[in-house]
Amino acid sequence: MEEFHIIEDELGRKFKTLRLSVTPICNFACEYCVGGLETHTGKTKQYNTKLDTFKKYVYEIHRILNLHKVRLTGGEPLLYHEISQLIRILKEEIGIPHVSLTTNGSRLEKVASALKQSGLDSLNLSLDAIDSAVFYKMSKRNRLDEVIKGLQLSLEAGIQLKLNCTVMRGFNESQILPLLEFSGSRKIPIRYLEFMQMGAYYQNYKSFLVSQDEILSVISHKYKIRELGRKKSSTSYEYETEEGYLFGIIANESSPFCKDCDRLRLDSKGVLYGCLSSNHGFPLEGIENLREVLPSVLQKAIFQKQKERFIGSPITMISVGG
Ligand code: 5AD
Ligand code: SF4
Repeated sequence: MEEFHIIEDELGRKFKTLRLSVTPICNFACEYCVGGLETHTGKTKQYNTKLDTFKKYVYEIHRILNLHKVRLTGGEPLLYHEISQLIRILKEEIGIPHVSLTTNGSRLEKVASALKQSGLDSLNLSLDAIDSAVFYKMSKRNRLDEVIKGLQLSLEAGIQLKLNCTVMRGFNESQILPLLEFSGSRKIPIRYLEFMQMGAYYQNYKSFLVSQDEILSVISHKYKIRELGRKKSSTSYEYETEEGYLFGIIANESSPFCKDCDRLRLDSKGVLYGCLSSNHGFPLEGIENLREVLPSVLQKAIFQKQKERFIGSPITMISVGG
């Protein structure tokens, strides 16, 4: 392969992480994602993009960018029928150094060991509540037990795990401490996400936003915490409690992280986005001389990045991946 190009913007940002949305289908209906609407349950076949198509796109992108990491997202990526084969292709055939996945965990108990065997390096599990009534309120599903079982099987399979909790006022702020204790006692790092202005709540997201300071104040009421800082190109500010519970806060409003963002997004229909804030992607499907035009498409995509912070988009994460 060995054909890397320099694609960068005026802030020196490059694409090093690809977030690949393998399906827009989801079996949950999380409040922050679809805001009370039902999702496209039951039509998974319709969106079953071929393995070869993903392989071609990622191969060509990696050839140009020398990616460090691919994160598989959705919708719910474990609803993609050939997810383990895709991971194996990314790792073994394309040579991506780190392959990870973000999941709601509903199918994890069925596939945890297959994921490990296919070479998956790490997994982010969305867990917005540990109380089943609050879990239902957030996801509109009564599936907490399956998610916890999946989490346990993933740990047993030796998969490196992190938890993600998006905090929404009036929904799950009661879960900040219980989730910290749940994850800390199992030595799993957890990240709290400030609610972002996307999709269903695009117009009125502010009243649902629980800020970084509020999250910190809830935790420091009970625990002594120290700040560990933020790694380059990471979205998350890291902290540790005296007992060694690791947690992070992804705070687009309070501590924006766009200035060294290295993320590129590709959705399941083959549309590239250089930034979540953008409603206009670059479709790759149907381009005949993809290898020749891709460098200029990527150069245009990198100029979509925001200078400082995500500025909101009516697109929901369900199509471009969390
Ligand atoms: N704000 C913050 N995080 C979001 N996610 C999806 N929509 C939003 C939003 N509006 C993230 C959550 C979820 C992942 C799939 O995407 O972290 O766990
Ligand atoms: Fe599904 Fe993820 Fe959106 Fe929840 S956040 S509805 S699990 S795509």
